[in-house]
Parts: sequence; structure tokens; C-alpha cells
Amino acid sequence: MSQKLCVNVAYPLFNSPSQHANHGGSRVLKIETLTKCFGQNIAVDKVSITVERPAMIGIIGRSGAGKSTFLRMLNRLTDASSGRIVFEGRDVTTLRGAQKRAWQSQCAMIFQQFNLVSRMDVVSNVLHGTLNRRSTLATMFNLYPDSDIHRAIEILDRLGIADHAPKRAEALSGGQQQRVAIARALMQDPRIILADEPIASLDPMNAQIVMDALRRIHEEDGRTVIANLHTLDTARRFCDRVIGMLAGRVVFDGTPEQLTTGVARDIYGADASFSEESTSTSIETLDRGTVRALRDAEAAV
Ligand SMILES: Nc1ncnc2c1ncn2[C@@H]1O[C@H](COP(=O)(O)OP(=O)(O)O)[C@@H](O)[C@H]1O
Ligand SMILES: [Mg+2]
Repeated sequence: MSQKLCVNVAYPLFNSPSQHANHGGSRVLKIETLTKCFGQNIAVDKVSITVERPAMIGIIGRSGAGKSTFLRMLNRLTDASSGRIVFEGRDVTTLRGAQKRAWQSQCAMIFQQFNLVSRMDVVSNVLHGTLNRRSTLATMFNLYPDSDIHRAIEILDRLGIADHAPKRAEALSGGQQQRVAIARALMQDPRIILADEPIASLDPMNAQIVMDALRRIHEEDGRTVIANLHTLDTARRFCDRVIGMLAGRVVFDGTPEQLTTGVARDIYGADASFSEESTSTSIETLDRGTVRALRDAEAAV
């Protein structure tokens, strides 16, 4: 476990390493001068990034910097205006139909607002992660093979929320709902997980649990995680690589250690009044005992 992870979250250890573990450097993601224009506005401006091996990457920058548009282009929710996304030597920028959906399965997306079907039970929400590879008929009649149902429960167990499987999603706390969204993403068995502000709606304890889960998924499964993060401390603490965006461009690409206060000030385009606290989640202020006590209290409810 990385030294950056200070809290020993009590949900079950991930004891069944995925088939993706130890794939080393074979999964290269290459983004070449990726650009998105909305009319005259250049939301993402010639972004080029190479991810040589499974990594945990944080993208930071002020609101409007282009972070969400960038992730949405990677997942093909938004078409690029120009540039290319190449994964394992294959250009995925122009895929259509079933091939595009297959790519979207390989780079699952998680959102700030979870995007669950709130009145549907948790396990069905997770099973929705298999939609891309099921027939329309099976989907219409809500037919899932037993093996998928078992896998969904296993993934929920891995994330410490199997007990909630029969409950409606809306009955869960925000942090639990985000873990359901992560479980749904894992159901797709993705190579890459894209997370757009995954902890922006969560309290510090749940923010920590969710970031910890993403970190473990990266480390133990060998999946790449790319997360837009609204706070510096989270990016520094959980990511190996931080990318700073300003006005659609990459203005920083380095390690957390290289992300000094001066560099951060440049990324956020702030003046001399810039302070680190203004970009902090206060996760750091929770010590290990406090997190455990809060989590135990949550479990008792
Ligand atoms: N669908 C859209 N139509 C028009 N402009 C958009 C759209 N989505 C984003 N933008 C613009 O693109 C820029 C980048 O937005 P966004 O990617 O949401 O930034 P961030 O996620 O960093 O806050 C902003 O100027 C925003 O107004
Ligand atoms: Mg955004």
C-alpha cells in the first residue's frame, strides 16, 4: 500500500486480484493534441498526454479549465473537434456503434452526482454495468445470468457495501452511493476508470473512503484511474501524477512533490492572495481514529 494512504479502511481487503493485475507497461494510452471547441470557445486546447502503464492520475484546475470536457472526450461522450485518442495502438477517436460502446466499457466513467437509478435496488444498479454487452431483450426483461449477479455481489463486498445490495439506491448515503457507482463501473471490467469530481459532493470521511477505493482498484487491479479533483490535497495524497489545466491547456504535468504552492498558484491562475486552504477538502484534518469512529457510527445506523 502506498504511503500516501494513511487510513486503514475496514472494508474487506481485495483478496481476488483481477485478471488485469501485473500487466505492466503494455497498456499505453496516448492522447495527441486533443481539442474541443464550443463555437469560438476552445474548451480543451491541444492536450497531449501519454500514460505508459497503469497509473493514478489527478487532474486539477479552476472551474471552466476544461477538465470535464477532457474526460468526456476520452470516454467518447463528447466528440473531439480535432486530435486523437490512441489506446494500445488503436485510434478510438472515430469509433462508431458497437465498437464505440465497447470502448466506453473499457473506460468506465464515474460522476460527481453518482448517476444511479435512485428507486432501483443497489445490485440492479451494479448490473447495469453490463448493459453494453447484453441484448436488448435481456435488458427489457431484466434478465441477468447468475454469474453476473454473483459477480455484482462480490464487487459490492469488495467495496464494503454488500449488506446494502437489496436496498434502493436512494436509501444509501452519498459515499455509499458513490461506491455503488464504482461497483457498476467495475462490472464493466474496464481498463481505465474516469472519475469526474468523484468526491465533490461528499463529506471528508466518505471522500476519503471513495478515494481509498479508487486507489486500491488502481494498485490491486492494475487499472488506470484518471480523476478530476477539485482540491489540491486530494490530488497530492492519492495520485502519482498530477496534471494541471488552465484555460483548456495542460500547464503542469508532474509528481505531487513537484506540485509546489507556487506551481499551484499558476495552475489556479490566482493572484498573491491564493491560499492552499481554499482548495482543500480537509480530508487531511481527519485522523485515523476519527475516521474509524465515524465509519463505525455509519455502520451502526
Ligand atoms: N456543452 C457545452 N456547450 C458549450 N460550452 C461548454 C459545454 N461544456 C463545457 N463548455 C465550456 O467549456 C469550458 C470548459 O468547461 P468544463 O470542461 O466543464 O470545465 P471544468 O470541468 O474544468 O470546470 C467552459 O468554458 C465551459 O463553459
Ligand atoms: Mg467539471
